[in-house]
Amino acid sequence: MKTTLHNGNSAEVLKQYPDNHFDSIVTDPPYGIEFLGKDWDENTGAIEVWRECLRVLKPGGYLLAFGAPRTYHRLATNLEDIGFEIKDSLMWLYGSGFPKTQDVGNRLTKKGIDNDFHGWKTALKPAHEPIIMCRKPTKLSTMDNMVKYGVGALNIDGSRVGDEKTITKITKITNTENGVNMTGKFGSHNDEYYNTERNKDKETTEIINVENAGRFPSNVIGEVEGYQKYFYHPKVSRKERDMGESNNIHPTIKPVALMKYLVTLITPPNGKVLDPFNGSGSTGMAVKEFGGEYVGIDLDENYIKISRKRINAYQQ
Ligand SMILES: C[S@@+](CC[C@H](N)C(=O)[O-])C[C@H]1O[C@@H](n2cnc3c(N)ncnc32)[C@H](O)[C@@H]1O
Repeated sequence: MKTTLHNGNSAEVLKQYPDNHFDSIVTDPPYGIEFLGKDWDENTGAIEVWRECLRVLKPGGYLLAFGAPRTYHRLATNLEDIGFEIKDSLMWLYGSGFPKTQDVGNRLTKKGIDNDFHGWKTALKPAHEPIIMCRKPTKLSTMDNMVKYGVGALNIDGSRVGDEKTITKITKITNTENGVNMTGKFGSHNDEYYNTERNKDKETTEIINVENAGRFPSNVIGEVEGYQKYFYHPKVSRKERDMGESNNIHPTIKPVALMKYLVTLITPPNGKVLDPFNGSGSTGMAVKEFGGEYVGIDLDENYIKISRKRINAYQQ
C-alpha cells in the first residue's frame, strides 16, 4: 500500500491532484464547536476544501464525513450547495461519551441563592455522531459508471455485519445469442441493467438463492450494548492511540475498525482514498489494513508526524 501525507491546507494541497483522481473520501472534519478550544475546529470544513474534494473525486464516487449533532446541518448544506448529492445519513452510536454540563441548582446554591433547580442541567449525554454519505454526481447509470470508473455503488457484501447466515436471491441472466453470462449479485430485477441492448428474447433467467454470512449493513453503526446487531467496534485503546510510540495528543481520535468499515463500504479493492482532515492518521491505518492507496492532509505538522508513526507501525 502507498501512503502520502501532506502538511498543509487541503484547499491548496489538493490543487496538485488531477480531476477524478480518488475513488473515495472518508474524513472527520472540524465540527465547528471549537472542541477543547482548538482553532482548527472553528468551522465544519472550509468550503474551498469541499470544492476541491468534489473535483478530485471520481464521478459517482462517495464521500463520508463525520459531523457533530449540533453543527451537522451546516456540513450537510455546505456539501449539497457545492454540488454533492446527499445519499444517506449514518448514525454512529457509542456509550463512552460524557455529559459536559453543570447542575444549575448546585451553582445557584454556591452563590447563596436558595432554589428548587437541583437536577436541572444544560445538556444531554452525547451518544451519537452523524456521518453524512454523499456522492459526486455522474451522468452515467450506476452500472455504466461502475464499469467506467469502478465506483458508484456500495460494497454491501464486503461490509456485512457479523457471521449469521442470511439468504439472498440472485438473478442469473444468460443471453444465449451473445453467450453473455450475467451472473452476479444484482439482487432481483434491476431495471437499469435489464435495459441494455441485449436481446431479451434469447435470455434465460434463473433465480439462485445465495447464502451470505452476516447481516445487510444498515445506516446505524453501534458501539453500545444492544446495538451489536449493527456493526460493532471497540473504542480506541491506548495501544491503538499511541501506536508507533507516537505519543498521540490528538483530542478526537476515531477507532481504526470504524474507519475501516467506512472505507470498505465505499472503496473498490486497491482504491485511492483521501482524508483531507487527516488528524492523527486513523483513516490511513484503516486503508493500510484495507489494502488501498492513501493520501492524508493536515494543517498541523505535529499531527502529520504522529500519523506517520502510527501508520508505519500499524500491522495489517
Ligand atoms: C477532527 S480532526 C481529525 C481526527 C482524526 N479522525 C483522527 O482520528 O485522528 C480534524 C483535523 O483536521 C485538520 N484540519 C482542519 N482544517 C484543515 C484544512 N483546511 N486542511 C487540512 N487539515 C485541516 C485539523 O488540524 C485536525 O487535525
